[in-house]
Amino acid sequence: MTFPHVRPRRLRTTPAVRRLVAEVSVEPRQLVLPMFVRDGIDAPLEISSMPGVVQHTVDSLRAAAEEAVREGVGGLMLFGVPDDADKDAEGSVAWNPDGVLNRGLRALREDLGDATVIMADTCLDEFTSHGHCGVLDAHGRVDNDATLERYALMGVAQADAGAHMLGPSGMMDGQIGVLRSALDSAGHQDVSLLAYTAKYASPFYGPFREAVGSSLQGDRRTYQQDAANRRESLRELELDLAEGADIVMVKPAMSYLDVLADVAAASPVPVAAYQISGEYSMITAASQNGWIDRDAAIRESLLSIRRAGADIVLTYWATEAARWLNRGTW
Ligand code: PBG
Repeated sequence: MTFPHVRPRRLRTTPAVRRLVAEVSVEPRQLVLPMFVRDGIDAPLEISSMPGVVQHTVDSLRAAAEEAVREGVGGLMLFGVPDDADKDAEGSVAWNPDGVLNRGLRALREDLGDATVIMADTCLDEFTSHGHCGVLDAHGRVDNDATLERYALMGVAQADAGAHMLGPSGMMDGQIGVLRSALDSAGHQDVSLLAYTAKYASPFYGPFREAVGSSLQGDRRTYQQDAANRRESLRELELDLAEGADIVMVKPAMSYLDVLADVAAASPVPVAAYQISGEYSMITAASQNGWIDRDAAIRESLLSIRRAGADIVLTYWATEAARWLNRGTW
């Protein structure tokens, strides 16, 4: 009998040696917390499709943001949920300074100053009566270039409200370039762009539809990417870089770790990944049924996204995971 001399198991023998040789880790500063602020409510509302996540009032938003910052999270990504009565075909409440998203941004910047990175979702889907990420043409198709004009208005309003960074998530061609020049012309040269570079059309956004009270009928397949395509994301990366993206992002995370690895290998700028609503809800639901160990599944999912190459992870567990890391219970 010959026994092996090379024994990879030696480096797995104790928690201490495993910790010593871990290739990647997660730090609070790498985590960004997506948050929802809703108009016209006087107490936070549970999102039933995302147990543990709420639509905030401006007051509860402030408190949750402060808690996240206390735990050292790297940033906050804010989404707005307007009153249905304020939605129109253009989504114009998105660039109204008194619209709920801009009020939320102003409150966060007032409280937190530069203590964290305040990010704004720059997309029309929460604000349009039809739920699409842009305005429609006479045939009901999403009109790319007409949408860009609205993104420019929205982005400048968000920067005026105090956002440090914009996250254009609508997948319109040219959105990074248009936002860059609109921000620059408005004197917001220092406001940066977190580009949704590779964003795939996905059923895993399902729970988010409830989170933002989306009015969408149908799907976003004429603007978001097709799940069959991998190298297309490198083309999107090239374009976003040429247009001035400061950070690039891949979304969803778990079904697109190959795309994330490709983008991370090619990108000269920091890379983010978004662990989306469906990823959150699947782990939550399976653990509520007693089928998987919730905390271990969260840790593994975050590590896998880091291992694939993300510098930054947007996750609804940002505050909780940061707390584990800070208290040594990771
Ligand atoms: C669009 C947007 C979506 C998400 C973030 N921005 C929904 C979509 O594209 O359909 C999804 C986030 C998540 O599912 O957690 N503005």
